[in-house]
Amino acid sequence: MPAVVIVGAQWGDEGKGKATDLISDRIDYVVKFNGGNNAGHTVVIGDEKYALHLLPSGILTKGVTPVISNGVVIDPEVLMEELDGLTARGIDVSKLVVSSHAHIITAYHRTLDRVTERFLGKRQIGTTGRGIGPTYADKINRVGIRVQDLFDEGILRQKVEGALESKNHLLVKIYNRRAIGVDEVVEELLSYADRLRPMVQDTALLLHRALEEGKTVLCEGGQATMLDVDHGTYPFVTSSNATSGGASTGTGIAPWRLDKIIGIVKAYTTRVGSGPFPTELDDEFGEFLRSNGHEFGTTTGRPRRCGWYDAPIARYSARINGVTDFVLTKLDVLTGLEKIPVCVAYDVEGTRVEEIPWSQSDFHHAKPVYEYFPGWSEDITGVRKFEDLPQNAQDYVLALEAISGSRISAIGVGPGRDAIVARHDLLG
Ligand code: GDP
Ligand code: IMO
Ligand code: MG
Repeated sequence: MPAVVIVGAQWGDEGKGKATDLISDRIDYVVKFNGGNNAGHTVVIGDEKYALHLLPSGILTKGVTPVISNGVVIDPEVLMEELDGLTARGIDVSKLVVSSHAHIITAYHRTLDRVTERFLGKRQIGTTGRGIGPTYADKINRVGIRVQDLFDEGILRQKVEGALESKNHLLVKIYNRRAIGVDEVVEELLSYADRLRPMVQDTALLLHRALEEGKTVLCEGGQATMLDVDHGTYPFVTSSNATSGGASTGTGIAPWRLDKIIGIVKAYTTRVGSGPFPTELDDEFGEFLRSNGHEFGTTTGRPRRCGWYDAPIARYSARINGVTDFVLTKLDVLTGLEKIPVCVAYDVEGTRVEEIPWSQSDFHHAKPVYEYFPGWSEDITGVRKFEDLPQNAQDYVLALEAISGSRISAIGVGPGRDAIVARHDLLG
């Protein structure tokens, strides 16, 4: 099994962290390939709960080498804080490897993220305010700061000066904020250099060699398909490629080596931030999903918007990512519902459409067409075998499998590490 990818199939928070943790003991390297500390992955091991943002979830498994690759944007202060936090809890973080090519989030990226959101007013994206968008914008504009720049003060100063020249005009003249000094940024970044230096490598080379030696590499995506900058609900997206293609560009692992693509999909749908969401519920059922599923952001604490399962989105994700296996999470949250609606198609201005419309305006106006499945009331959190699930729960899973574009190989029935019903070997 050479390289495996885990991606979110909806709008994030599907349980990617738990899925990574689930297979990490059979993996040699776990690589975060996109995004930054906008992500929030919760992993529950026994009585311990870990919230990971910038670090790949595989860091919790002994023996795994965690890697932050070139596609990621790194806030060095957050990195150090997260490493210290895990160390204090007895986790060995000494094996972490960081790409020399990854881009750095600086104070001006964080400031710009917040002021541009404020200026957007009603049209705001609802970003996490972590500086993600402005950092990727600088990368594409070729004025970004990379990890390797922290080890050459002259180059770093030149690049920060170049970046701040235009940004300070923007900050002062347009956004009415104070100018940011070159010295303060350079000094802050240099203060992380000594600690960062031993972690830095050519991670594409490291991973290539590992794969050549027959080691197993897991690429763990942050965010999700519908938040992907190319394939998501643009402009209400993040600024990176969260789909499986991003695992290749974001790591330097050749596409042909990625032969297992695991899509994580919730048994219902959630979204944080603005943008279209056809199955969103504003009623007591939305509240039921939010409170039963503890749907509050791991990163920002914001209540997540909640709605029913959307099969066209799952099919879209299966196609875009080439999903070989789905992990269906949080089935336990649906326990107690008399009937469970599933969106099987959309009604767009009176026309039934089976797939996500290519026009964003049509998607904004898409009304879900529901099919209804009978619910169950039995507690399923202790179930470990598919046949032991209540018949209606089995039927619900089989119905989703039939309309979602790929097989469902594992089912989450609780937050804990072992709360899982396995159907097919995820790495087989
Ligand atoms: P990620 O960003 O995709 O890693 O997901 P998050 O960690 O942000 O959100 C998923 C939440 O659901 C976390 O609090 C998990 O502990 C929890 N979780 C994951 N799988 C299950 C499941 O099968 N059942 C329940 N009840 N909770 C789950
Ligand atoms: P994980 O990895 C859910 C959303 C934000 C906002 C949009 C852009 O935990 O699934 P950004 O700060 O990235 O520029 O915000 O993307 N968003 C997420 N939503 N889960 C995430 O990560 C997210 N990361 C970003 O809410 O709508
Ligand atoms: Mg999350």
